[in-house]
Amino acid sequence: MNPFDFAHKHAKEITWMSQNTNQIPMTDVIEKAIQEAISWKEYNLYPRSNGIFGLTELLKEHLGLPDDYEVLLTNGGIEGLYILTRALLEKGDEVICTDPSFLPIHHQIEISGAKPVEIPIYQKPWKMTPEQIQEAITPRTKMILLIDPINPMGTAYTKDEIKAICQIAQDNDILIIDDITYRDFSEPFPTYDLVPDRTLVSYTFSKQCGLAGMRIGMVAAPKALMDKMRPYNTNVLSVNILAQRAAMAAMETIDNWLPPLRAQLLKNQAIIKSAVEKMDGCFLPVYPSSTNMFVIDISQTGVDPDDLQDKMLYDYKVFVRSGNYVSKSFGESFIRVSFSVPQPSVERFASIFPEVMGLLKK
Ligand SMILES: Cc1ncc(COP(=O)(O)O)c(C=O)c1O
Repeated sequence: MNPFDFAHKHAKEITWMSQNTNQIPMTDVIEKAIQEAISWKEYNLYPRSNGIFGLTELLKEHLGLPDDYEVLLTNGGIEGLYILTRALLEKGDEVICTDPSFLPIHHQIEISGAKPVEIPIYQKPWKMTPEQIQEAITPRTKMILLIDPINPMGTAYTKDEIKAICQIAQDNDILIIDDITYRDFSEPFPTYDLVPDRTLVSYTFSKQCGLAGMRIGMVAAPKALMDKMRPYNTNVLSVNILAQRAAMAAMETIDNWLPPLRAQLLKNQAIIKSAVEKMDGCFLPVYPSSTNMFVIDISQTGVDPDDLQDKMLYDYKVFVRSGNYVSKSFGESFIRVSFSVPQPSVERFASIFPEVMGLLKK
């Protein structure tokens, strides 16, 4: 049985440090909103195609999107990315990305006939530099996939870096996918503030709001680009109504629960750091992380990250991800650990990590 199936089979016993979704209980408003919608069977109705009243407006305000941007609700951010790659990429186009990365987007780029051009970022500064982007540009470059903060590294781009990247996009007439999936965990410098006419925004409620199972996210773009994407929209009948209610409740109250969540994430990552520091041959490339995950480099230990993932999951019911899940070239060097789980679960990880490494070291 593959690790994901195994974890689901034992879902309630698993410590899910594998998927960057918040599982620290922060508020009951989400549950209440879902229950209220269920109580009057709102699910009997097709939702409005533009979503429940107020949701897209709230999102525009929360993200500070330009006035002329249009928002399309989708089944998770991933579907918005599918729509945009389908609509805007052609055979032979190139998209500048990173390795490591969130690889399903690279797959979507490929099935659109385009090529992901992967800049290696498993080295300092653990993110793309504007110079590397400039060098990767060819006449076929159509887009830059900018994931900020970066899954899996936990690195975020500085304002100056964003400025330089936007300038490159402007000078070379290319688009930017500003994948801000993890922006609520950090201090974001969105590209739509600088190059609104060439930015496509991918955002989701899966991570910070912990709504991954509800499958709701969005893509936003200026009207001219959204007009090109709409024919590829698979959601003319809108997205799950319970998910919309949950997202609305979460966004209406985000200022109450996000700051304490971020404070807890700082504590959680410090707990993991102390455990990693005690282990010979292990280190954290990026600390503190600007989001709710980071990677632990284990390359000097001789331990295979797939074995580590499997041992932790099958014997200890703690699910982390092998680097191979997020990297084609560097996956053998690390594991990715998400720490938006309750502190006792992080403490358990910190206590078993040295034990399992000890068992696997040759
Ligand atoms: C960078 C990035 N973009 C998009 C997604 C898609 O998330 P979802 O479809 O749950 O919104 C993920 C999920 O892990 C991600 O890491």
